[in-house]
This record gives sequence, C-alpha cells and structure tokens, in this order.
Amino acid sequence: MLLLTGVTGKTGGASAQALLKKGIKFRAIVRNAEKAAALKAAGVELVIGDVTDRAVLEKALTGVDKALMVCPNGEKQLDIEKQFVDVAKAKGVKHVVKMSSMEAVADAKAPIPRIHYASEQYLKQSGLAWTMIKPNFFMQNLLGSGGTIKEQGKFFLPLSQGTTVMIDTRDIGACVAAVMTSPGHEGQAYELTGPEELSFADAAERFTKVLGRKIEYVHVPMPAYRQTLARFLTNEWHLNAVCELFQEIADGQDLHITDSVQKLTGKAPTSLEQFIRDHQAVFAA
Ligand SMILES: NC(=O)c1ccc[n+]([C@@H]2O[C@H](COP(=O)([O-])OP(=O)(O)OC[C@H]3O[C@@H](n4cnc5c(N)ncnc54)[C@H](OP(=O)(O)O)[C@@H]3O)[C@@H](O)[C@H]2O)c1
Repeated sequence: MLLLTGVTGKTGGASAQALLKKGIKFRAIVRNAEKAAALKAAGVELVIGDVTDRAVLEKALTGVDKALMVCPNGEKQLDIEKQFVDVAKAKGVKHVVKMSSMEAVADAKAPIPRIHYASEQYLKQSGLAWTMIKPNFFMQNLLGSGGTIKEQGKFFLPLSQGTTVMIDTRDIGACVAAVMTSPGHEGQAYELTGPEELSFADAAERFTKVLGRKIEYVHVPMPAYRQTLARFLTNEWHLNAVCELFQEIADGQDLHITDSVQKLTGKAPTSLEQFIRDHQAVFAA
C-alpha cells in the first residue's frame, strides 16, 4: 500500500493525479473531506485527519510500504516531519519519499530550506529507505499573478534580476509517481528542474509571446511586497520565511539544470511557454 499526504495541494495533488493516471491505488491523509471528494470518487482511500496528529498517522501508516511525505511550510514543519518518520518506522513502513527543495543544502540560510535540510538528515538517520524530491521554484507560483497579468498586463514580484530553473508541479508529480511505483530509488536525492534558467524578465517575454500582448515584469521592493503578502499569509513566521527565500532568489543563486525529470519520466520537462498555454484561462485578458 502507498500513502500520500498533501493531496489537496500542488505537489501532493500532482503526485496523486500521476498515480491515478497509472491506475495505481493508494491511501491519503486529508483534513478536508470535501476538498478530496473527487479523489475519493476516483478510488483513493481517505484517512480524514490532521497530519500533525500522531493517532491519525498511526492509522494511516498501518500496512503501508512506501509513503510520500509532503508537509506544509511553517515553524513546526520539522517536528511534524520527524513525527511522521518516527511513526512510519514504528509501523514498519519501508521507504519514505520526502518532498524537499533544491535549496535545502547544508549551508542553507533561509528558514524553509534549512528545515528541509534538517528533516532530510533526520530521515536519512532513521534507518528507513529514503528518496528526496528536491524541486526548484514552481511555475504554478505564477498562477498567483494571474489577476494582474489578466487585468494590467503586469506581474509584481520582489525578485529583481534573480533567476530560477522553474519546474511545472505536474512534472514533479510524474517523478513522484515513478519513484513510488518502480524500484531503485532508495538513497537517491533528485533535484528537479525545468528545461531552462529564466529571470522574471525572461518569463515576461514568454508570457508576451504566448498571450500575444505585452506582459511586463515589475520588480517590487521587498518591504512593499511583504505588505501585500501579509494580506494572504497571516502567520508571521511563514511571511518572513517566504520573504527571506525570495530575497535569496533576488540576490542570485548558483543554479544548474538537471536531467532528472527526463530520466524518471521518460519525458522532457514542461517549458514555461507550454505551462502558460495550458493555463490560458488564468492569464488571458
Ligand atoms: N512553492 C515552491 O516554489 C516550492 C519549491 C520547492 C519546494 N517546495 C516545497 O514543497 C512543499 C509542498 O508544497 P506544496 O506547494 O505542494 O504545498 P501546498 O500546495 O501548500 O499544499 C499543502 C498540502 O498540505 C495539506 N495540509 C496542510 N496542513 C495540513 C494538516 N495540518 N493536516 C493535513 N494536511 C495538511 C494541505 O491541505 P489543505 O488543502 O486542507 O490545506 C495541502 O494538501 C513545501 O514543503 C515547500 O517547501 C515549494
């Protein structure tokens, strides 16, 4: 039996869809049954409850061979993931696949990658088989700018000239499905990237080309961006953590493109142009 968490979110949801496409049955922990109604209808076995609740984990991880651990960002993320690993071990789970990030390295400075790195170390030392899924910036983050792209032909981010090797979460889901359903992924850390390194001005050019009208990237100073984000992110720790992560992107990162998506799925990673075409309804005026 396979167990997934985060299936009503971006990466867990894409992983669930990729497994369903392969005709694989699995179990999932969800806290909102209504949000997961379509998954239930598709045959997913739901355990309703909170991923922070030990009793829920004990129930959900019973009889499971491989589990995908996708946990929400927050100051408690490390504790939540440690408990997940502990319960998985106690329940005889063989292999935990952890959703981490490409920025999660030993000398990471921003809080979210530091938590991911610490959690990776905890899982590695647990004695369980492990696989780390380490994606770069999600193309789906740009969906949050859909409104301003549609209405003003602009998107506003505090990322200066920073670049990413952004990836479509559907490709992340396809990679997770491959890892969950085929052998040989124990002890592997897969850095997942899209096909090209792009600044946000480059991204604006891609939008312009696909949408057929001028789309402009506007750099917003971090304090102003923080004020806007605070309307959506009410947790102070999370707000600061996202701003720190974005500041690192703005300051410039040491990036590389990997062939992990191609190797795991047999397909080239989705280009930003294709992503925009697939989400025309969100961006088109
Ligand atoms: N965004 C990026 O560019 C990026 C890049 C690399 C790595 N990452 C990493 O990717 C990971 C996952 O991100 P994501 O974007 O897939 O997450 P997401 O879309 O925010 O989804 C989070 C999922 O966790 C569920 N959840 C949250 N709290 C829960 C709880 N207490 N009990 C049960 N379920 C709970 C949510 O359920 P509800 O639907 O009920 O809220 C949702 O299904 C993060 O750790 C992040 O650091 C992100």
